Amino acid sequence: MIFIFSLMFWVVVDSHKIQNQIYDRFPEDFFFGVGTSAYQIEGAWNLSGKGESIWDRATHTTPYITDRSTGDVACDSYHNYREDIRIVKQLKVHCYRFSISWTRIFPNGTVNNVNQDGIDYYNNLIDGLRAVGVEPMITLFHWDTPQVLQELGGWASETMIVWYLEYVERVFELFGDRVQVWTTFNEPANFCQFGYTQVSAPFLNSSGIGSYLCAHNIIRAHAGAYDLYQKKFKSRQKGIIGISLDSFWNEPADPNSEEDKKAAQFSLEFYFGWFAWPIFKTGDYPDAVKLQIARRSREQGFPRSRLPVFTRQEQMKIRRSFDYLGLNHYATFLTKPDNQTASMFPTRQNDRNLIESVDPSWKPTSRSGFTVRPESLRKLLLWIGQYLGSHVKIAITESGYNGADTETLDDPERIDYLNGYVQAVLDAMNQGANVKAFTWWSLMDNFEWGDGYTKKFGFYHVDFNDPRRRRTAKKSAKVYQNIIVTRKVDPTFNPSYFKH
Ligand code: NOJ
Repeated sequence: MIFIFSLMFWVVVDSHKIQNQIYDRFPEDFFFGVGTSAYQIEGAWNLSGKGESIWDRATHTTPYITDRSTGDVACDSYHNYREDIRIVKQLKVHCYRFSISWTRIFPNGTVNNVNQDGIDYYNNLIDGLRAVGVEPMITLFHWDTPQVLQELGGWASETMIVWYLEYVERVFELFGDRVQVWTTFNEPANFCQFGYTQVSAPFLNSSGIGSYLCAHNIIRAHAGAYDLYQKKFKSRQKGIIGISLDSFWNEPADPNSEEDKKAAQFSLEFYFGWFAWPIFKTGDYPDAVKLQIARRSREQGFPRSRLPVFTRQEQMKIRRSFDYLGLNHYATFLTKPDNQTASMFPTRQNDRNLIESVDPSWKPTSRSGFTVRPESLRKLLLWIGQYLGSHVKIAITESGYNGADTETLDDPERIDYLNGYVQAVLDAMNQGANVKAFTWWSLMDNFEWGDGYTKKFGFYHVDFNDPRRRRTAKKSAKVYQNIIVTRKVDPTFNPSYFKH
């Protein structure tokens, strides 16, 4: 009850910081959470009526997953959801961010065929969380497109918008009486870029055309879902709805070079602005991005830009289709212009025309190119405040440390990362950033997409050799709990482990 009340406070009252107020700890209406996604944890890929998703298909048929693993069983959360609720409660988080597997409730993707077992699963999870005072925060799409719909074109086809809207309407009807925070899409830039450069499902090779169609349709589907919620559900259910966008932070390779400064800015616009500018500002893509893709397309002999165009009517619907911005942030790059000529085969890489690198002195994580730079999150939050306006409420929906598969329950690197990044959020708020929530990635080790089980993001270790998939808290879990309870970072806090 307490959490529901404070969430409504966040939604209804703009408790934006009083000017010059300095926080020594996170304010009472600030939410802490922890996240997962369906394909990465649920398992039971073909049990109890679930249909096939593009990740099921990809892991069963492509050679792209490092350890050739699948999410067939993963953390087996389908059977272990009570244990998930127990550990979420142990952390004392205010909200749990998870996603719905579309094909668990609609096995063929279309809403005529309903799988009651899937609905029961999510009802149990939602009710179980609420019973222990944890707010469910639901992502409607975290990359697991129904395979049947992929075969009809997937997100490159605009018919996907209709199927998606029918799906989300049913989800609002089914669960919306108990869910206050919705996210339409998780990291669509990542999904549309890497799904069309053979890094992620659907493992297509069409970043210069397919990626743009994918993004275009997802933006329209997002705006449609926002509109649908406002018209049909908001007055009764009173929830909020946003989108989770991922952004790196780009520094100029040479801080004194005007060209490099422009390149860093362009990189942010090209990736983050691709979705953020239409939704949070104008209803249309950033001018710099439109110009660059149009120019490249001309050079390549296309009769028009490969970047699709929104109608006026669509623009009106897209602009300001948000209650909050979900932000996922992991890495920092040094950026400078490249001098590629137009490639025959169009790619986003060639459109972007930039060179990115990392400073070798930056502290690495186990994923190459991903370094530990808490000040980047602070800078990114301040930059977003200027780019989109400080009225935009930000919920950090992901940040987290990827450990190697050799890490132990004693995880000082994750603790350092956690302390640094949470402190960076508070520092940003003290400089005017409008941040309302921080959701850590991830609750527990899970299937990390192309990296399979070789990368560990969890506060809880999962024993993937144990049929019961036993979860055990790492030291960092206790540190996060302490941050939540005290609402501040204490770098000297050196806890013992949770007792089981
Ligand atoms: C991005 C994605 O949303 C999530 O699914 C993934 O596991 C983490 N970041 C870590 O890479």
